[in-house]
Amino acid sequence: MKFAHPKPHTLIKMQSFSAFHAKSLLLLSTIFSFTKIAVTEEGFCSASSIIDSNSNCQQPLYSKFINPTLSPSHLQDLPGFTRSVYKSDHAVITPESHVFSPLPDWSNTLGAYLVSPAMGAHFVMYLAKMQESSKSGLPSEQVERFVFVLQGSVKLTNSSGVGQTLMVDSFAYLPPNSKHLFESYESATLVVFERRYAYLENHIPEQIVGSTDQQPLLDTPGELRKLLPMTMAYDFNIHIMDFQPGEFLNVKEVHYNQHGLLLLEGQGIYRLGDNCSGHYIRYPVAARDAIWMAPFVPQWYAALGNVRTRYLLYKDVNRNPL
Ligand SMILES: *[C@@H]1O[C@H](CO)[C@@H](O)[C@H](O)[C@H]1NC(C)=O
Ligand SMILES: *[C@@H]1O[C@H](CO)[C@@H](O)[C@H](O)[C@H]1NC(C)=O
Repeated sequence: MKFAHPKPHTLIKMQSFSAFHAKSLLLLSTIFSFTKIAVTEEGFCSASSIIDSNSNCQQPLYSKFINPTLSPSHLQDLPGFTRSVYKSDHAVITPESHVFSPLPDWSNTLGAYLVSPAMGAHFVMYLAKMQESSKSGLPSEQVERFVFVLQGSVKLTNSSGVGQTLMVDSFAYLPPNSKHLFESYESATLVVFERRYAYLENHIPEQIVGSTDQQPLLDTPGELRKLLPMTMAYDFNIHIMDFQPGEFLNVKEVHYNQHGLLLLEGQGIYRLGDNCSGHYIRYPVAARDAIWMAPFVPQWYAALGNVRTRYLLYKDVNRNPL
């Protein structure tokens, strides 16, 4: 019952979020106009115009010192600044470093590859921004595909000619060599995972279409949902993990599986990598950050702030690593 109405819930959350932003903006601009008036009345303008004839009288002298703009949300505007990190066993790819270019084989769609074999991964993870009237291309032969909708909606048509509309929070798994088409009439943003399928005798993966909130909740630290069946036919799974602020992974995991992670909501600290310098590497992360984790990289997460963390995680499973 708790998850009976996933769509309206998501919609309401998004509306109140933007309403909140609209209010903050209004408040900010009100404060800003008051500041301007006060400054003019106090005569800062004439003082600074003696020194700098180009002064536009908008800011008091040294105003940046008193009112720093380097809040976390401004850091990414600093020239040359990025939180992105690329190391041999992990990478953190943050939004200011996402580079979009046309996706080959798709029409009218921009893609940003966040994880690829060049890093050592055996899969790709990319964002696909479908514009108006866009169409997907097919992956290569033997390559399976998983698609999760982050924004907008897409129509999936499969080789039986059946069409289904996927809204935000819905997903589809397409087995290798299964002809299909994603179409977007307005705009849609997807995260896509593709991998060369690892065949296993007598096991055949099938198309899966579903929605996150319809997946059963599993008992782990935080809340975990698995989007694909836990059967041997599937050589990877996609986990949706939720943490309330203050919750953390109680396993300090080190394992043979590799991961591609996309933070959908919230913020926290991701601990990744080695201890060479005597310190673990702790990364502050937030929604829209992507992480690549190689096999055996130590990993741990703690959620902070005042909203739930939700992340989506690729994990290879069910195959002998030898
Ligand atoms: C096409 O989609 C329908 C509805 O999800 C499904 O029943 C059917 O098996 C799919 N066809 C193939 C070839 O996967
Ligand atoms: C991490 O480094 C510190 C300082 O060099 C060392 O004392 C500690 O044992 C190391 N921990 C692990 C798990 O290697």
